[in-house]
Amino acid sequence: MSALIQAQYQQWPYPSVPLWGRVSGLEVFQLHLQHLRARVGLPAAAEARIWIAGCGTMQPYLLGKANPKAEILATDISTSSLDRARWRCRLNGVARVDFQQVDLEEEELPTGPFEWIECYGVLMNLRDPALALRRLADRLAPDGILRLMVYPWFSRRRVFQLQRVARLLGLIPPRAEDPKKLRAIVRALPKDHPLRYAFDSYFDAQNDAGIVDAFLHAGDRGFTALHLAELAEQAGLEVGYWFHRPWARPEVIGRVLRLSDWSAPQLLHYADLWQELRGNLVPILVKKGAGRTATEEMIHPALRRSSSLQVALGRLFGLELGNRLGEGRLFLSGAELRALDRGEYFNHTTTRVNRMREAGVLLGGSEDVWSLPPPPPLSPADREPTEDLELGEQAANPFYSHLLAPLRYGQRHPELGTLTMEVAAWEPLAEPLEEEGAWGLTPIGTGRVHGAAMDRWREAENPKVTRLDQLRYVEEDLPALRRFLSPFDIPKKLSLLEERELWLLIGSWKSLFLTASSA
Ligand SMILES: C[S@@+](CC[C@H](N)C(=O)[O-])C[C@H]1O[C@@H](n2cnc3c(N)ncnc32)[C@H](O)[C@@H]1O
Repeated sequence: MSALIQAQYQQWPYPSVPLWGRVSGLEVFQLHLQHLRARVGLPAAAEARIWIAGCGTMQPYLLGKANPKAEILATDISTSSLDRARWRCRLNGVARVDFQQVDLEEEELPTGPFEWIECYGVLMNLRDPALALRRLADRLAPDGILRLMVYPWFSRRRVFQLQRVARLLGLIPPRAEDPKKLRAIVRALPKDHPLRYAFDSYFDAQNDAGIVDAFLHAGDRGFTALHLAELAEQAGLEVGYWFHRPWARPEVIGRVLRLSDWSAPQLLHYADLWQELRGNLVPILVKKGAGRTATEEMIHPALRRSSSLQVALGRLFGLELGNRLGEGRLFLSGAELRALDRGEYFNHTTTRVNRMREAGVLLGGSEDVWSLPPPPPLSPADREPTEDLELGEQAANPFYSHLLAPLRYGQRHPELGTLTMEVAAWEPLAEPLEEEGAWGLTPIGTGRVHGAAMDRWREAENPKVTRLDQLRYVEEDLPALRRFLSPFDIPKKLSLLEERELWLLIGSWKSLFLTASSA
């Protein structure tokens, strides 16, 4: 797999951001090592050796900017990504970064120990993520942190479905013109088609490198939160912190849904089922027994007595802090910044101070390392849920299987109640993704429109038919698909079975239930 993936990132280094795109140290203040250590209850590290494994074109600059005193090693399998990252650092004055071409699947890896290993958006590209994680853990300092990002299994279904369409059409591995071709095919779909919505609302779909990284990828995959926690456990690691927008923080979900005896991975698994992660799975892992406790109090090093012009102006006019997850969005007044310079604040327990702790302006001290029960043993159905077609007389359309998955989960957890109750439990905090008139984007929207039918389906014993050729087609279906594809120069002759699968992905989106001939 490495060769195909290497070729992909060699041709389309990711992310595609102009070299002159600059950030200030404060925009990335949550990438400061001490901030991340405080998140998991570890004391400030005296040494700071950071390894960015699979760094892409941007991260060396961002981490270098946030950690000006650290020694950073940035590695990637793609030399064109490394070249861009090196140029970006040079042009923008980030000096303490070494670059090296490293294939994470090869024998030779950099020797540790590292206080921080960052492996963001890479594990899902590797043949054996469990082995890769163990090898990263071996290079971690005893009290080091390992931050990961992987794709969620359920919330990313539409992207994986688009990948499947592209694969069936022979656009994977991609040639130079294929990102544009895929864009043209998607734009020919009706405006309210779920795959078009998924493409148009995808942040990275604006440039070719983003389209390849998401929809024409040579081999990536999703993980359930439960599976990820299992992989961590096998590598002798535990999750110290999950980075998620405030609503999808596991302890908040547990409180709101009154599921206090659930573990953090279970709660995130559940949020993913409901399409409520609204992001990827991003945990900080630490070695088991790393001695996490409440730690010394400090004010974020980028703020206290900082001589940067931005903070100096902030002392007069105030300063807004924020990150992509919206977690740290916080306005600090001039008076507050001046008080931070004096080292004040730790002895208060007001909401304001708690907010500063949450955002990471105040580190360590009384910050609680939250704890939830450990995860239960993992069942194979939760590790990699099957995507059975489950056809039959009025059986569920597999195109919507990820939206029906929470209902199946509900069947295994009777304590969660009926569909109506489940929807009601999620609704108050969830802003539905649906736009007016569209449906089928989240289980909440689908449940609102089709709740009664879904409840009936859940209660019925549907016969399972798992073969595509048992789908009952209306005679015009396949000719309509061929007409739809005819303007595009499809590089591959499609078999009947491939056409049927494509019809399912492209043409069956208006029906929540399909019919099939019984075998
Ligand atoms: C989705 S990009 C993420 C880049 C960067 N971490 C970020 O978050 O912007 C995946 C990166 O992993 C790298 N990669 C993929 N397989 C790899 C492997 N076997 N060894 C090292 N790097 C790899 C790719 O070249 C690419 O730069």
